[in-house]
Amino acid sequence: MRFSTAIAALSALVVVAAAPTESQDDKHLFHAPHCPPQWSSPEEQGLAFYEFVNTFYVEGNTTAALLNFVSPDYIQHNVYIDSGRDNAQKALEGIFKDSTITLVNVGFQNNVGYVHYKVTEEGSPVTAFVDVYRLNGTCVEEHWDVIQALPANATNPLALF
Ligand SMILES: *[C@@H]1O[C@H](CO)[C@@H](O)[C@H](O)[C@H]1NC(C)=O
Ligand SMILES: *[C@@H]1O[C@H](CO)[C@@H](O)[C@H](O)[C@H]1NC(C)=O
Ligand SMILES: *[C@@H]1O[C@H](CO)[C@@H](O)[C@H](O)[C@H]1NC(C)=O
Repeated sequence: MRFSTAIAALSALVVVAAAPTESQDDKHLFHAPHCPPQWSSPEEQGLAFYEFVNTFYVEGNTTAALLNFVSPDYIQHNVYIDSGRDNAQKALEGIFKDSTITLVNVGFQNNVGYVHYKVTEEGSPVTAFVDVYRLNGTCVEEHWDVIQALPANATNPLALF
């Protein structure tokens, strides 16, 4: 997996954001496992979400991200994967290994985080993804996604990106 500048930038941001916590004795922060949910401040939730995004999309380690941050009973709305962390783990293992992921927008507010990204893979059309996650505390409990491949005859020169 190759990394874009945007991803390197996010990676740096996450490292900077996480660094101060290492010297703090705050048991709520980065408590592992993150599930079942425990009370967390919005700042703790945001940091945990960015750590999840970093593990899942930047490192591409979907299994580590799922095992650390996702509820075993998590509710899935992807059209091809059933609910439950085990199903996600099986479906996603190694899914990014031949792809380049470029993060476009990442945000977190009011228990909901989103990741908007571009996937390029040889032999496939460039595709836009948006993953939306609902957290309880720092535990990911629900996922939605919206996916669109760039059509061959798109007329807009700004299509998707
Ligand atoms: C994913 O993360 C886990 C836990 O940190 C590690 O044991 C495993 O080797 C990683 N897998 C890959 C493909 O990097
Ligand atoms: C969050 O999880 C706790 C503990 O499992 C549960 O009591 C609470 O109802 C959940 N909150 C939401 C908004 O789902
Ligand atoms: C091109 O776009 C039109 C819609 O504007 C669609 O109906 C048609 O099937 C497309 N053709 C190809 C070759 O994708």
